[in-house]
Amino acid sequence: MLLELARGRRILFFGGKGGVGKTTVSAATALAMANEGRKVLLVSTDPAHNLGHLFDRAIGSRPVKLSSGLDGLELDPEETVKKHLEEVSSALYRLMPMELRGEVDKHMELSRDAPGMQEAALLEKIAEVVEEGLKDYDLIVFDTAPSGHTARLMALPEMMSAWTEGLIKRREKADKFAAVVAGMGRESDRDLGGKYFEEDAEAQKESRIRQILLRRRNRFLNLRNALTDRDKTAFVIVLAAERLPVLETIELAAQLKRTGVTIGGLVVNKRMPAGVSEFMDERKAQEEKHLKVLAEALPDIPRQDLLLVAHDVVGREALEVFATRLE
Ligand SMILES: Nc1ncnc2c1ncn2[C@@H]1O[C@H](COP(=O)(O)OP(=O)(O)O)[C@@H](O)[C@H]1O
Ligand SMILES: [Mg+2]
Repeated sequence: MLLELARGRRILFFGGKGGVGKTTVSAATALAMANEGRKVLLVSTDPAHNLGHLFDRAIGSRPVKLSSGLDGLELDPEETVKKHLEEVSSALYRLMPMELRGEVDKHMELSRDAPGMQEAALLEKIAEVVEEGLKDYDLIVFDTAPSGHTARLMALPEMMSAWTEGLIKRREKADKFAAVVAGMGRESDRDLGGKYFEEDAEAQKESRIRQILLRRRNRFLNLRNALTDRDKTAFVIVLAAERLPVLETIELAAQLKRTGVTIGGLVVNKRMPAGVSEFMDERKAQEEKHLKVLAEALPDIPRQDLLLVAHDVVGREALEVFATRLE
């Protein structure tokens, strides 16, 4: 199921609670695809960053080679917020009159810890990785953070593009007004030996601001289009066969559906092997009960179960072995 899903897609998202195996399963899928000859970028958006631990090497905000055909990248939300705010404040500096710079600084200082800031910054980064990554890679695999915000994150591109759209419209109105005022002033300016150059510089500044906003809006729109394109992108939920994770998965699927994102597959990880002991068989029967609820709620979503293995999956070799279990 997973390999089939990955083969036909350009972007995969893995979501789910902490500890269920998102990093393991997403990395194994990425590795399997690279082994099939595709060029793959594996991206962690989880601040806990287990990718480096899994591959036993340092991974940062620039892609590093993890295996033949497989590069890895870890997005740091803190760093992303910092860079994002720097960009926003320099854009604001340009928009606002000099005397308001103090206000801009104060606003940005408050923004750092504002609710949703990390998500907005992270989303912009994801949008950038998608935009750039699709040029160089056949497949981008996202190992996402175990937050309950996944559905909200997926709804954000729409909100953010609407927001930037509003800003662009306001700029356009201001531009038109500025043009009229400039036109009115032209003749007399020329007579006076002119503020011509200043006005040109002003116009250039305006169009630069608009370019930034347009680029941003397009980036969000592209991400939005990619996320809702079932042929291009698949969202996979990884879960354990337990009561709460099952209920949460059903809820997450509903939330994502509301934002136009459909779940491409479910991975039930760490399933109890059969016939080992009476205890484990009982546990397995319990799992079946929970999975029945899952199947009834989400009957059309393909599912793959992966057995609990004896050891943690750490290192390239262990991951290669784990990847052979994927179908
Ligand atoms: N099928 C499995 N059997 C045994 N251990 C597993 C299995 N899948 C993952 N693990 C282990 O479980 C732990 C959590 O997995 P991880 O992929 O880091 O989860 P997440 O990214 O969802 O937090 C890791 O130590 C990993 O090696
Ligand atoms: Mg993880």
